[in-house]
Amino acid sequence: MTRLGIIGGTGVEQLDGLVVYREHAVDTPFGTPSRAIQEGRLGSAEVFFLHRHGSPAAIPPHLVNYRANLWALQSLGVTEVVGINAVGGIGDDMLPGRLVIPDQLIDYTWGREHTFDDGGGGRLLHIDFTEPYDRDLRLALARAAHSRDIDFVDGGVHGVAQGPRLETAAEVRRMAADGCDLVGMTGMPEAALARELGLAYAALCMVVNPAAGLGDVPLSLDMMRDILRRETAVVRGLLTELVLR
Ligand code: HPA
Repeated sequence: MTRLGIIGGTGVEQLDGLVVYREHAVDTPFGTPSRAIQEGRLGSAEVFFLHRHGSPAAIPPHLVNYRANLWALQSLGVTEVVGINAVGGIGDDMLPGRLVIPDQLIDYTWGREHTFDDGGGGRLLHIDFTEPYDRDLRLALARAAHSRDIDFVDGGVHGVAQGPRLETAAEVRRMAADGCDLVGMTGMPEAALARELGLAYAALCMVVNPAAGLGDVPLSLDMMRDILRRETAVVRGLLTELVLR
């Protein structure tokens, strides 16, 4: 049986519907995860939930201990991970309220602990990252969305910026020219670390604002929160369907 891990981002501090029966405060060789991992039942499935930004939400994207988070999930027997990200929309179709299952990413982050390869393991971790997201898990997410009649965009390039500030309009224009459809801050190194550990990983992105320079009002957290509230309800439904597989 697959054991599903869910990493919740901004707006997904807890997974409503998850009946939590245990909390795991895991210590790893890379430090402590963002928060104790909740183990519980979602429908009939066993799910492990971790809030990426800690509780109360405070750890900024560049300071999240991504290595500890993924290591801890794997140490609990998790084999598949869905990472949930709030993002800005760049592509024409990526309007606030859209749900996207990206199929590619471009990593613009820097200075993050981005690999388990510390040079001491005796083997190089040159993982194949041609397809950064697990195909089967992406398909399963898409199927779950279809069966609930949830509107989503299948595929897209997820640009991952360093943050915590939002981008300049010129940075967004450059990302668009690079082929990015979305911009977030937490998709990497999470996806690559999952691959290094052999975990199946896919992302579920919620567009909460037009990226910098593309909208007609200044970006504000309040406006993002409003959309997030609505989208997280949809994401919850999708995940509940996903675990029925
Ligand atoms: N840029 C980067 N990260 C984000 C954004 C954005 O516009 N919106 C939500 N997360």
